[in-house]
Amino acid sequence: MTYGAFDDAAKEYVIHEPGTPLPWINYLGNQDFFSLISNTGGGYSFYRDAKLRRLTRYRYNGVPGDSGGRNYYIAEGDALWSPAFSPMLTPLDDYRCRHGLGYTIFETRKNGLEAELCCFVPQEYAGEINRLVLRNTTETTKEIQIVSAVEWCLWNAVDDAANFQRNFSLGEVEVEGGAIYHKSEYRERRNHYAFHSVNHPTVGFDTSRDAFLGKFAGWNNPRTVLGGRSADSIAQGWAPIASHRIHCTLQPGESKSLIFILGYVEVSEAEKWESPNVINKKPAREMMARFATDAQVDAALRQLRGYWEDLLSNYQVRTGDEKLDRMVNIWNQYQCMVTFNLSRSASYFESGMGRGMGFRDSCQDLLGFVHMVPARARRRILDIAAIQFEDGGTWHQYQPLTKQGNADVGTGFNDDPLWLVACACAYIRETGDAAILNEPVAFNTKPGTEAPLFEHLRRSVHYTLQNLGPHGLPLIGRADWNDCLNLNCFSTQPGESFQTCANYESGIAESVFIGGMFVLYAREYAELCRLYGDAGESADILAAAQRMEEAVFAHGWDGEWFLRAYDAYGNKVGGADCEEGQIYIEPQGLCVMAGIGVKEGCAKKALDSVKERLTTEYGTCLLSPCYTTYHKELGEISSYPPGYKENGGIFCHNNPWISIAETVVKNPDEAFAVYRRTCPAYLEEKSDIHRTEPYVYSQMIAGREAATFGEAKNSWLTGTAAWTFVNVSQYLLGIIPTHEGLRVAPCLPAQFATITVRRRYRGVWYTITIENKNPGGAPRLTVDGANISGDVLPLSGQSECAVQVVIA
Ligand code: GLC
Ligand code: GLC
Repeated sequence: MTYGAFDDAAKEYVIHEPGTPLPWINYLGNQDFFSLISNTGGGYSFYRDAKLRRLTRYRYNGVPGDSGGRNYYIAEGDALWSPAFSPMLTPLDDYRCRHGLGYTIFETRKNGLEAELCCFVPQEYAGEINRLVLRNTTETTKEIQIVSAVEWCLWNAVDDAANFQRNFSLGEVEVEGGAIYHKSEYRERRNHYAFHSVNHPTVGFDTSRDAFLGKFAGWNNPRTVLGGRSADSIAQGWAPIASHRIHCTLQPGESKSLIFILGYVEVSEAEKWESPNVINKKPAREMMARFATDAQVDAALRQLRGYWEDLLSNYQVRTGDEKLDRMVNIWNQYQCMVTFNLSRSASYFESGMGRGMGFRDSCQDLLGFVHMVPARARRRILDIAAIQFEDGGTWHQYQPLTKQGNADVGTGFNDDPLWLVACACAYIRETGDAAILNEPVAFNTKPGTEAPLFEHLRRSVHYTLQNLGPHGLPLIGRADWNDCLNLNCFSTQPGESFQTCANYESGIAESVFIGGMFVLYAREYAELCRLYGDAGESADILAAAQRMEEAVFAHGWDGEWFLRAYDAYGNKVGGADCEEGQIYIEPQGLCVMAGIGVKEGCAKKALDSVKERLTTEYGTCLLSPCYTTYHKELGEISSYPPGYKENGGIFCHNNPWISIAETVVKNPDEAFAVYRRTCPAYLEEKSDIHRTEPYVYSQMIAGREAATFGEAKNSWLTGTAAWTFVNVSQYLLGIIPTHEGLRVAPCLPAQFATITVRRRYRGVWYTITIENKNPGGAPRLTVDGANISGDVLPLSGQSECAVQVVIA
């Protein structure tokens, strides 16, 4: 069953039913000001940091769900409805929600009155625009009242939801004409306020939630809205809101446009006040003036569309399969931008209060983003590297506003440092900007400790080598990629964090996964050393990678697949002899990606085992069989019911590793089948089972052993976005940036006979036409009519480059 449809020409997903299985959301804003918006107008806005600078309030896990956000009410006589369906929930004569790139438009209709509500965050603007256009399609004149309402969050989202003894007394507002200002805490330590404005005379307002709603009422039956009159209330503490009331008369055929703005303003200490206790509204007025007319709004929307056209043009494909094309050309890249911006902070599953920027998460997000805005990727690499310690280890997370490591989650996730190598190498392969290696970066953000980025990479690689266990495999520490495989935590107390408690610090639990990862990324690092001046280090590291490969073979190969780990007692995890959890997905992916066992046939064997034991119609499960009891020697992984999350769920993030691994062993059919199984566009018809948005990836789909097999959770903020984009663009379609130029090595099944990729790379537009005559075979390349040897396109001096590829 579907709840909408893709409109590829408009680059939109068009939802035609407000009752989607879960709220289906979109993101507005790309730089500083962000909003989440659901298909019924729910969500919230924040400036830079979802925890510390939250503008509007949102109730996670509230009842009814998804209340809060942009509340609009249209009253015509007794008829009362909302142009985004919520909060009034009045059945509409027509409803469409168009989620586009950086904007969402609601097109709804009731009793011959058409509403179009367009929501977006303009480029370089700290605010969200909501333009509401009403059109009278009937033969009679309409008298209409429009009421808006947003509920302020008292900035710090955690205090706002917890510290009521203080925050019930904090709320302060000012009202001036069509603008309501939220200035809680501005009198003392804050240099910022927010406003909600409308470009039209108002006939009433409210700023006190209690006065607006009235007793026993909710957002779907506010007393003032039902009664037809605002209370003109001024909030004193409690819950400040901003609500405007507008009256308009619409002749037959006439339409009217109202522009509402939710804005954020920062003022310097010297300019905070207009007069005693009156905030300086000049910057806010300037912001309102920028969007006072339809022409201004239209121009900003055009600019936003142009921005996305340009970004997406860096990688465009035509394969003949519209689902594949729309994911590669539009939605997968879009999701990569969102994950790059927000890491794991704010979604409908991430509350925006907890997880800041993850070290490993942000490094991986960058892999799917670097081709879009390399300059931002560059800054990010330097930010991430700055939370590394001198011994090469690192904080696991940092707060975007302060850029300081987050002590609550701590350190010792032993895969973390190697991800820095992965993303720095990806950046240099994309841009050729090796100068980044010389950038000075501090350790643990301490001024005076700066060393070149190259040195940070060196310490990352050596960190693994300095932390080896009894089998010569890397020690796992708190956890590796799998945050829930906690081999040293031994937790028996509810409430203890599996990631930070260490009740039995064994010093011997090892990860085969990090072993594979080391082989892969140490070789990339060695290549950097060879290219940029350290041949000795290069040789040493290649030798170390070779030793690691041998250790993985000797102690990490279980006969039919790779083991996952050794636990704190030195017992195998993820082996055929284990009672449960006999095979895990991660080492099969990473070890084969690193080339381990390819010659020997073990790689193929491991992937066959994955197919036999882990593969389902909805994707590849993380492990099998699932743990049915809690194992304190394994940690959080065994805390989930079978089939959910890391306990044998389909963790979408590592499915692309298997797909890439299948390309390594030249198995195009299975490589694509793995890609297709978790790809949301192919799951659209099953939306009632899958439940999350059909245009973006989710972190997890319930696995075979779960009661709700096929049900996805945790959409949007997942490393799946970046890895699937790396997989499809670089391995299936096979356009791989290398230090020497673009390598072309597609691996697609026979159904893809002819493919065209247009790729902007180091300033050159490559148009690459691929004839897939022998799937999985060797590519033969012709550039502008001339044959070239090998599969790497020489760096070109022209601005356009036409490439013919025959897979023969
Ligand atoms: C979550 C985390 C990520 C981790 C994964 C597997 O998605 O954000 O860091 O690798 O879970 O546990
Ligand atoms: C929880 C989640 C896991 C996530 C981790 C991040 O353990 O289950 O998926 O990676 O938190 O710290």
